Amino acid sequence: MSARSYTFSHAVTRKPCKAVIEGLRAVDTGTPDLALFEQHHADYVLALKATGAEVVTLEALEEFPDSVFVEDAALCLPEGAIAMRPGAPSRLREAEAMAPILAQIYGSVQTVEGPGFIDGGDILVTEREILVGTSARTDSTGIEELRQIVTPWGYTVRELKTPEGVLHFKTDCSLLDENTILSTERLAKSGCFEGYEVILTAEGEEACANAIRFNELVIMPDGFPETEARLVEAGYNVRKVGNTEAAKLDGGMSCLSLRFTPEIAC
Ligand code: GLY
Repeated sequence: MSARSYTFSHAVTRKPCKAVIEGLRAVDTGTPDLALFEQHHADYVLALKATGAEVVTLEALEEFPDSVFVEDAALCLPEGAIAMRPGAPSRLREAEAMAPILAQIYGSVQTVEGPGFIDGGDILVTEREILVGTSARTDSTGIEELRQIVTPWGYTVRELKTPEGVLHFKTDCSLLDENTILSTERLAKSGCFEGYEVILTAEGEEACANAIRFNELVIMPDGFPETEARLVEAGYNVRKVGNTEAAKLDGGMSCLSLRFTPEIAC
């Protein structure tokens, strides 16, 4: 049986809107170039499609500058889709916009109602558990509500802490296979991946920790040669995609898609 944590029949993405240049960022490193962002996004969609998955690309949503980062709005598991409760006020209603799209695929969608908050970017689903980091966007109350929803489906949720000053838990880590995580040293040294194999990002290349394993590919941002070499050496089939513009908004490979295989489609 193939690994459910990285074997996917579907992905959902959303085109960047013109307002993306006003998207949230921790530090202003320059205004994203919209045309280049669109080109990178198209390349990213092609990479997902190259694995044979069905990729839905939603039209841009001008109301929400950060709406290209669809991952934060939902968590999609084989058993069901769950609308999150994003912790940034300007992003809260992105989940409402995503729910009907997922309902068309899954038939129904569960919802984190609050009062807690939880962003999809803080959730790493592995083959054996769901890891969730508290962050500026995700709190313990939100994680508890997620736990209530997924426990009946047989999942164990483990609450962890996103490193100080890091946007999301998955800003600093990615799943590579059933047993292996790509991580920054600052996150791995917290001990949160005990029992997993860990491949560390190279020094100075922490910004590529946010990669995705999508079927046979590991899709990572372009421009991180030492970490890329470590992944190739470990036997992964690496595909690089430009990410300079999304990176100005603290966005990476995982943020740009929801990835799933609904049981209903099996
Ligand atoms: N710009 C992505 C975020 O802050 O949520």
